[in-house]
Amino acid sequence: MSGSTASEDLRRRLIELESVAAESPAAIEIVRSPGRVNLIGEYTDVNEGFVLPAAIDREIRIALVPSRDRRVVLHRLDTGETGSFELESLPSRAGGWLDYAVGTAWALAAAGVNLRGIRGAISTNLPPGAGLSSSAAIELAIARALIEPGAQSIEGLELARICQRAENLFVGVQSGLMDQFAVACGRAGSALLLDCRSLEWRSVPLPEEFRLVVCDTGSPRELAGSEYNVRRRQCEAAVAALARDDPGIHSLRDVTPEVLAGAESSGRLDPLLARRARHVVSENGRVLAAVAALEADDIPAVADAFAESHASLRDQFEVSSPALDAMVEIATSTPGVEAARMTGAGFGGCTINLVRSDAVDRLAARVERDYPGRTGLSPRVFPVTAADGAGFVA
Ligand code: GLA
Repeated sequence: MSGSTASEDLRRRLIELESVAAESPAAIEIVRSPGRVNLIGEYTDVNEGFVLPAAIDREIRIALVPSRDRRVVLHRLDTGETGSFELESLPSRAGGWLDYAVGTAWALAAAGVNLRGIRGAISTNLPPGAGLSSSAAIELAIARALIEPGAQSIEGLELARICQRAENLFVGVQSGLMDQFAVACGRAGSALLLDCRSLEWRSVPLPEEFRLVVCDTGSPRELAGSEYNVRRRQCEAAVAALARDDPGIHSLRDVTPEVLAGAESSGRLDPLLARRARHVVSENGRVLAAVAALEADDIPAVADAFAESHASLRDQFEVSSPALDAMVEIATSTPGVEAARMTGAGFGGCTINLVRSDAVDRLAARVERDYPGRTGLSPRVFPVTAADGAGFVA
């Protein structure tokens, strides 16, 4: 469905659902908010390192009308559910999808941002639970929808940080800044290099002769929440151990491969913590190597960085899964697939692939042929395009 068709449908549904929209259809506004893939740099955002995500053309849309009251009413068209809350007395966390909207309102209010009541209808073509950041997409969509226009202008990075607080402090997931940043700051045709320590970032144009292809393993990411927090604690424990020798070490960003090897061989760092730290320290190097390779059009070097990243996530950080490994193996043995790795937090979810344009169908056919037999799971393969970050549709 084209963007304008999606917006027209959504507008029509809002008019059916809400009389205030029917009374003043000219007041309807449309917000779009993309999902994201991460090209490389996994678990580095929570360790003050580098990431290279891109917003994608799979997205959440909200059609809305501002209301005169202080009430937010949201109709989810994909499930038929409706949720609502009062801006003046926000409900506490309830464990459902509405938490993302309430949490975003809470974080915005805590940041002193003026909010408005709305009536909205939400549609999505972003597969939920696949690791493409549908939660960051809904947070940024809600943020754009609720902010009273005119009075204040909030740029993307700042809004991303507010939405990250919604996720960390309200929803209760200790995630980094990458997802909200990518969703807020995306640039069509480019990936984004973010330094999660200085928060400086820039766009990195993607080669036009290749397609980004997402392969969804179709496997649940049940462990993603609990194991994610375990990995964070292990990284913190590694930093604490290394800081005993060098108080200048505040995060894994301060650690070189040499320092790490020294601490490991002398037994000052527990072997498990050393493996976790080795992934993060080496991954930072791979992000910068991949950016240099993309800018030099050196696709084999991009492929090496992707392959080493996947192996490190599988063997050192231990967040891959048999399904993700099978998907990467099938992709890398397909002619025309130049680079492949798991993307996001792992434990299921998706892989990201850099594919020659004429090999996209071949990859889809190979996955369809080989993956279900190897895993017992149903895959989905879809090309994506790097897209602009969340905002209003003109
Ligand atoms: C999830 C988190 C991100 C990041 C990735 C792993 O997507 O939300 O902050 O840590 O996992 O790279």
